[in-house]
Amino acid sequence: SSNAMWGGRFADGPDAIMEAINASIGFDRRMAAQDIAGSKAHAAMLASTGIVSDSDAAAMKEGLLTVLSEIEDGSFAFSAALEDIHMNVEARLKELIGAPAGRLHTGRSRNDQVATDFRLWVRDQLDAADAALIALMRALVSQAEAGADWVMPGFTHLQTAQPVTWGHHMMAYVEMLNRDLGRVRDARARMNECPLGAAALAGTSFPIDRDMTAAELGFDRPCANSLDAVSDRDFALEFLGMASICAMHLSRLAEELVIWSSAQFRFVTLSDRFSTGSSIMPQKKNPDAAELIRSKIGRIFGANVALTLVMKGLPLAYSKDMQEDKEQVFDAADNLMLALAAMEGMVRDMSANRAALEAAASAGFSTATDLADWLVRVLDMPFREAHHVTGALVAMAEGKGCDLPDLSLGDMQSVHGDISAEVFDVLGVHNSVASRTSYGGTAPEQVRRQVQRWQEILG
Ligand code: ARG
Repeated sequence: SSNAMWGGRFADGPDAIMEAINASIGFDRRMAAQDIAGSKAHAAMLASTGIVSDSDAAAMKEGLLTVLSEIEDGSFAFSAALEDIHMNVEARLKELIGAPAGRLHTGRSRNDQVATDFRLWVRDQLDAADAALIALMRALVSQAEAGADWVMPGFTHLQTAQPVTWGHHMMAYVEMLNRDLGRVRDARARMNECPLGAAALAGTSFPIDRDMTAAELGFDRPCANSLDAVSDRDFALEFLGMASICAMHLSRLAEELVIWSSAQFRFVTLSDRFSTGSSIMPQKKNPDAAELIRSKIGRIFGANVALTLVMKGLPLAYSKDMQEDKEQVFDAADNLMLALAAMEGMVRDMSANRAALEAAASAGFSTATDLADWLVRVLDMPFREAHHVTGALVAMAEGKGCDLPDLSLGDMQSVHGDISAEVFDVLGVHNSVASRTSYGGTAPEQVRRQVQRWQEILG
């Protein structure tokens, strides 16, 4: 026939432009393994329910395994005329086993087939993201353990605020990534229902067993509504939502690494393995991996927006618009995994410069709050007055071009006569962080407790 797929109804083949806009084989071939797993489960179910003979089902299974090995070894000839992965696999199966191949599509449509394949693919990515997040969290916990009591400046507005510990800063990202991990697991639990058997949209009159195919493919249950089963792409959107938030977190850490590895900060030294040089400036060691990680949110959030807009306003059930789901998710998944792996490598390899962190920690009057708290605690001053007195001392130090601990007791007493020499104890950055023992605070003892807790959780 002049039309490879629906010659019964069609006298003419597609225009070249029709084929170009319609074909998805260029990208959906990435779901070949999922497509064949789905077909194997469907074939076994067709035999067990007596819809096809055992010998037909055995031929289908044999043939599908051959197709899979041809795809895996690169000998499979993909055809754009056959539109997508589903038709390509089925056409090759026909060449291999003949007539029984034509019975495989009984009680099934490409609509439930693609929805099943894509769910399986996204589920694999969620599992990969789960493992990658844990690996990165472990790397951060190791950094935190090594530097639980290393002091560094904590910032608000990227201005020195109060001293914190390196370990505390690392563990902040562990909390963020753990919420991403929670989103991965929530999404997986919610998406793990099987569309197969919804057929084109209405279900089928064949006595299929949807529980059997669902179980065979590792789903918790079949989707309960056939219209929803073939037209839901929430699972892909949830993946992209999770990926967007995770990529946003990675971009914040990446930005910190870019700043921290600069000559002006020197908080961290990145390994050669995760840095690049310059073709003209011999001294350069650039944090390109961090910059690229910082940028990934652009395409990942772009994919999230793109697919949300593709789905918006689509009437039930399947529309071809939905074929536009895969490239967005594939690209977002590839880049999220790359960003997670690169960040893990960078964090594992980097070394924090303890001396530079400590020198920076005391600059910028970072213990001014400790001074104000001391005035409240020891002199029983109202906090507002203590704030004012401390502000005057900061202004004095700024005028003299020194830091708070460099003021003399006489300088201090010229602002408030009751200040005694013990005040100098709280002006040191180590005492400052050690005093912040409230739950979740930056004191090394608190950080060590969190490190231990996470080591137990992460194993
Ligand atoms: N290639 C299609 C997709 O990705 C498969 C489903 C086609 N279904 C259809 N009714 N044309 O969505």
